[in-house]
Amino acid sequence: MEEELISIKNAALSFILEAEDLKSLEETKLQFLGKSGKLTQTIKDITKIPPEKRKEFGMLANEVKQTIEDAIAQRQENLKQKSEKILRQKIDVTNPGIKPPLGHEHLVTQAIEEISGIFEKIGFTRLRYPEVEWDWYAFEALNFPQNHPARDDWETFFIKAEKDAKKGPMVLTPHTSSGQIREIEKNLAKENKDKNLSIRMLNVAKCYRRQSDVSHTPMFHQFETLVIDKDISISHLKGVLDYFAKSYFGKNRKTRIRPYHFQFTEPSFEVDVTCGVCLGRGCRLCKEGWLEMGGAGMVHPNVLRTGGIDPEKYTGFASGWGVERVLMMREGLEIDDLRLLYSNNLDFLEQF
Ligand code: DAH
Repeated sequence: MEEELISIKNAALSFILEAEDLKSLEETKLQFLGKSGKLTQTIKDITKIPPEKRKEFGMLANEVKQTIEDAIAQRQENLKQKSEKILRQKIDVTNPGIKPPLGHEHLVTQAIEEISGIFEKIGFTRLRYPEVEWDWYAFEALNFPQNHPARDDWETFFIKAEKDAKKGPMVLTPHTSSGQIREIEKNLAKENKDKNLSIRMLNVAKCYRRQSDVSHTPMFHQFETLVIDKDISISHLKGVLDYFAKSYFGKNRKTRIRPYHFQFTEPSFEVDVTCGVCLGRGCRLCKEGWLEMGGAGMVHPNVLRTGGIDPEKYTGFASGWGVERVLMMREGLEIDDLRLLYSNNLDFLEQF
């Protein structure tokens, strides 16, 4: 019987030492000292032993009980201190702070900021003209004939709204060129007619077209320059294009202009930039050394006239390129599907 008491003591002590928290310590206490606990039960068996040995057994049992109780009290104290320490550590004001995860601007926003900075350095003012626009600004005033395919339901989103007698139906603007006439109107309104008209606009805005495939999203961004002043010529345009390409793509890049057609410019060009891989020598990526970037041209006299400017007195140039396009070209990003940019997929976006 005495041996049993000793083995109960040993078992209880090892359970107590192993108790990791106050809850399991309490369980151990119940297991040994509770009403139906092991020690309690064994002590009850005192009646089974001969009366002359009961005193000795009783003393040992008390000793064991006391030892277990002391050990529990001790462990309880330890565990309490431990959890207080953890708690204190948690609010230790001298600990270095835990940095909250920081987001960053979307890579298209980053590109817009950078592009704007480049043009602002040479005197352009960044603006943003309406995304919901009248047909007049998006097409009519830009010299588009009534039956031009861009005005088709399949190219342009039309808004269900009453048509304006002069400005026609409402559309989601399909290009930033819609800001040209608005910019001219704004400048004419504020300029004293005899003073020199001088426009250097950078219109960065969202554009919309009915397109959605691996290389097109229904919403995308364009940046449009418009310069109107006295004696503006193609060399000014070429200078600005070169400056932009060198600033955005790198000093070793060059631009070229190729004849093209747009309704609102005459002459019109497509602008190419030398390929970043072969720098114009020709490679597998670009074939002939050039990558196509977007449109540009000298503002069509009809557009100037519609805006209220005498084309004999003033000339101008304009250009309009896609933000997503130049961004992809510069980063050398081969995104299988451009729609990924706008899918809110953080695994993708967090890389930039
Ligand atoms: N608006 C044209 C487009 O979206 C791009 C463009 C071409 C803009 C020539 C211009 C320009 O300002 O001069 O395709």
